[in-house]
Parts: sequence; structure tokens; C-alpha cells
Amino acid sequence: TVKVPKDRTLDNTLAIFKDGYEFISKRVQSNHLDVYETRVLGEKVALLSGEEGAKLFYDTNRMNRKNALPSRVLKTLFGEDAIQTMDGKAHTHRKLLFMSLMTPEAITSLKVITKKHWDQFASKWEDKKKVVLYDETRELLCRTACEWAGVPLKEKEVEKRTRDLSNMIDGFSAVGPKHIESRRARKRTEKWIEDLILDVREGKQSAQKGTAIYEMAMHKDLHGNPLDARMAAIELINVIRPLVAISKFITFGALAFYQFPQNIAKAANDDDYLLRFTQEVRRYYPFVPFLGARVDHDFTWQQYNFKEGQLVLIDIYGTNHDPRLWDNPDEFNPDRFLNWNGGLFDLIPQGGGDYYKGHRCPGEQPTIEILKSSFDYMTNHLDYEVPKQDYSYSLRKMPALPKSGFVIKNVQRQ
Ligand code: HEM
Repeated sequence: TVKVPKDRTLDNTLAIFKDGYEFISKRVQSNHLDVYETRVLGEKVALLSGEEGAKLFYDTNRMNRKNALPSRVLKTLFGEDAIQTMDGKAHTHRKLLFMSLMTPEAITSLKVITKKHWDQFASKWEDKKKVVLYDETRELLCRTACEWAGVPLKEKEVEKRTRDLSNMIDGFSAVGPKHIESRRARKRTEKWIEDLILDVREGKQSAQKGTAIYEMAMHKDLHGNPLDARMAAIELINVIRPLVAISKFITFGALAFYQFPQNIAKAANDDDYLLRFTQEVRRYYPFVPFLGARVDHDFTWQQYNFKEGQLVLIDIYGTNHDPRLWDNPDEFNPDRFLNWNGGLFDLIPQGGGDYYKGHRCPGEQPTIEILKSSFDYMTNHLDYEVPKQDYSYSLRKMPALPKSGFVIKNVQRQ
């Protein structure tokens, strides 16, 4: 029988930092496999990569999310006891709450709000010597997210809120002061949003049905009880925080236009190409490296014995670059999506599988629409120059981003 290879080294925790986004694919795919065993933080971990690996990872009969996330991630990125940690009926019920926010009307309104803020920012940029696109689009999206979600944002607080929402993301994998700041950012944000939830419940803050703030404040759990105000706040933050994070994809998209300029005219004039470009940005550039789950009960898969409670990691970046799924995966080529069959387990920058049955990101459609609106704006309504700068990014640094944040200058609206 073929044996699933195991790392001989005692512990590979440091290798995660060394290999970064390629930690899993280096081990799994280099051996032409879907599963591989290693040790991380003293635990025996099963690494999965590729389409077959993703199918297993999203099989909720065999995998669950209880205790799958380290506390340092919950105290920064996601919040404690939120949807990411739930299983079974309770998870499905919570997921419906998120999915109910994504009606066609709500998505249309999100596009209108996004375009309005691009107009306001672009006009401001005309007077600036240079613009760091990552910093500016974070604020642009913070304003967009709050307006869409029904969260009032005081002008003098915009900067602080934007910073906190993005520090929660950037600090979860860090150590030292950056991590501590990330925890503080979460505490401040939870307090801010929890007070607003209480105001909505007491009628002191108006909120429209269908907006995230209203639906989180009024949601009833499976037993008919309202969410604890802190929990409602955490789930509302689970809407606005990732909306701000779309700034990373916008920044990478700007880099793609610069590095592969043949895309500019095509994206500007062809709506289908604009979508293919957007999908390729989400596939090609590094964002989420991997995700974790735990084995529900003992079982054998591809001759590997999964043990109840064992930690399992699915390779997100590596699956998006798996040569078994993508021709020349390290080439930026939007037209590869001309022949794509819309697989649920191959393009997985925001998770795989079914939205309702598993943990796939409920914000995927809004993300795609915001990116399309932004790339449309950049190609059809904006002229800019790209000065000399270091826009390189490293696959060893998670989360990745062009070093310069992508600087543009001489911005003019068309
Ligand atoms: C889950 C990525 C935007 C809300 C996830 C997951 C990933 C992801 C990888 C985990 C899937 C899993 O655990 O199996 C991203 C990326 C985004 C983005 C890269 C773009 C920058 C959004 C937006 C929203 C959102 C815009 C809300 C409007 C959520 C929620 C979950 C989630 C609530 C938890 C779902 C669950 O546990 O069932 N996202 N996301 N995300 N995302 Fe996103």
C-alpha cells in the first residue's frame, strides 16, 4: 500500500513562516497528493490541497469547526463564538441571516454606494500630489461598508474606525505589539458596535429593515431568543470588516493593470472581460493562505487515517494555483475563465462548497460586485500615472500586499 508521507521534522511551526503561502502546496502537491501529515504547534495536522482536498474539507459529515480556530485569531480577526466557529443547525440558521442580506436590491444599492464614494475620493485625489491606493481604498470601503450596513459613522471617527477594522485583519498572525494592537482594535470596535445595537433595540438609532444593522439587532436564534448584544455586534463586524478588506484585492487589481496593461482596455469595454479579470485577481494574488477544521470522527481517506479531533488545514492559495486545475497557474490570464465550469471546489479564495451547507464566504457576491465597480471606475473614469516604487510582495508574508501600498499620481477624473 502507498503510505501518506509525513514530515520527519519534529515540528513545522516555523516552516509556516518560512514557506508562507506555499507551506501546504510544497508538501502536498510536490508529492502529487491531496493529503500530507505534519506537526504544527505540537499537534499532528493533516494538510489538504487541491479540488479533492477541498471536497473533503467541506464535507460537514466528516469535518467540523469546534475548536478549529486558535484563540489569538478569535480575539482579533473573527470574534469569539461567531459564525466561523458554529456547526450543524445553529450554523445553518446563522448563515441564513448573512445570506438574507444579499438580495438583488441590496447588491444594487451596494454598487450605487460604492460608485458614489469612488467619485468623492477621485475628486479629492485630483488635488493630491500622490495617492497610496491601499490606504485610500480602505477608507473608501469603510465609508461604503458603514453606509450599506446602516452603521452611522462620525466624520471625525472615520480614520480611527478604518484603522481598527483593518488592524483586526493584519494583526492576527503577527506577534508582539502588532498583535496586541489588533486585539485592542477588536475591543474598541466591539464596544462601538455593541452600543449601536443597543440603541437600535431601544429605538434611539433608526435602522431600515434589510440592512445589516437592523437584521443583526433583531435576529432570533433557533430557540427564538435575540442575540446577546455583544454577539450581534460581532456578527455585524463580520460584515463591515471584510468589506474593508476588499481594499487588498483592489490594490492587487491596480497592480495587475500596471503589470499586464493589455487588460485595461479590455476591462473598460467588455463587461464579461471585467468579470473574468476580477475572478483572475481573486485567484492569482495571495490573500487567505489556508483554513482550519477538525475531524468529526475517525475515518480513512486516500489511505490516510483521520483521527477524531485532529486539526485539518485546507490550502487556499495552493488550490487556486494547483496545476492539476489551472493551466500555467502562475500566469495572469483572465481568459482562462472562458472555459471555467464554475466549480465549487477549484476557485476558492473565499472558501469552497455551498453557501448554505457550509462555511463558504457569504460575502463573495458583494466582493465580486465591489471589485467590478472599482475596476470599472479605474479603467473608465480615472487617469493616473504610476511613479517608480517598490510594489513587490512576498509570499512569505501573510497577509501579503504590495510594499508601497501601490502609489499613483497625477490623478484625473474622466
Ligand atoms: C467566511 C474570505 C469578503 C463575510 C470567509 C472565509 C473566507 C473568506 C476564506 C472562510 C470560509 C470557510 O471558513 O470555509 C473573504 C475574502 C473577502 C471576503 C478574501 C474579500 C476581501 C467578505 C464580505 C463579507 C464576508 C464582503 C460580508 C459582507 C464572511 C462571513 C464568513 C466569511 C460572515 C463566515 C461564514 C461561515 O462561517 O459560514 N470569507 N471574505 N466576507 N466571510 Fe468572507
